Amino acid sequence: MPKFEYVQAMAAIAREAGALLMQFFDRNIQIEYKGEADLVTAADRKSEALIRERIRKLWPSHDVLGEEEGLRDTGSEFRWYIDPLDGTTNFAHGYPVFCVSMGLQKGQELIAGVCYDPTRDELFAAERGTGAYLNERPIHVSTVPKLAQSLLATGFPSHKRHKNPNIYFYHQITLRSHGVRRPGSAALDLCSVACGRFDGFWEFNLNPWDTAAGVLIVEEAGGRITDFSGGKFKLDSRETVASNALIHDELVNEFQQIFAGRGLEPLPDSREYARKT
Ligand code: IPD
Ligand code: CA
Ligand code: CA
Repeated sequence: MPKFEYVQAMAAIAREAGALLMQFFDRNIQIEYKGEADLVTAADRKSEALIRERIRKLWPSHDVLGEEEGLRDTGSEFRWYIDPLDGTTNFAHGYPVFCVSMGLQKGQELIAGVCYDPTRDELFAAERGTGAYLNERPIHVSTVPKLAQSLLATGFPSHKRHKNPNIYFYHQITLRSHGVRRPGSAALDLCSVACGRFDGFWEFNLNPWDTAAGVLIVEEAGGRITDFSGGKFKLDSRETVASNALIHDELVNEFQQIFAGRGLEPLPDSREYARKT
């Protein structure tokens, strides 16, 4: 194992936050609404408070951007991106697919990331230049060479849902691959690309706290991350395409075709279906 500067301490914090989430999980937790379908629970808030407290003790000068409490900005060159519970909708419904995500940036570079899934006790971690790990064992992206042989994942945003065109991408790429899953935790989706469970993932409008850790973990596992045109991924670009690198050009090319409306398979007409059955 290489010598890590951050991930051991991060892993301990993420495990502690994950244990806290499990105390609330499946216990009829009260749901509050941040938007029409944007849920939050006491578990999200308590988890973020715990993580912030631990970061403040260990790295008092670092800045923190967390989903629930926003940005603490003192001008530090270090910034943490915290999603205290990624997959809140799953969590609130008792569906066990969610995680704690912590990413650390220095200047413009992501330098460390950890995602912890407490339901499976899986801890994904990477530090720049050290490779990526799942429960301390090295992980790598898949070797699937073609989109037609791949399994992918995507997600749909919880706000401004009617403005999101992803259903067309979902339909088109479903028809061109082994299938597209919608697990409900973007951070875990990225980790699943990193360890080869998925060959690719994309989503519109993710926030930096969803992606910071997972992006580094994918890169360190040998994968590729770009925007929808194949350009450099930026934490605030709101376009995320991740893959095992081998299918990346094909996937991005498919995106370009869909944006241009070329070769789109029409969505089947539900009224016509109803008439025939
Ligand atoms: C959500 C999840 C979901 C993705 C949404 C995110 P949250 O995060 O990552 O998979 O599709 O876009 O907002 O709200 O559960 O932290
Ligand atoms: Ca999230
Ligand atoms: Ca969240």
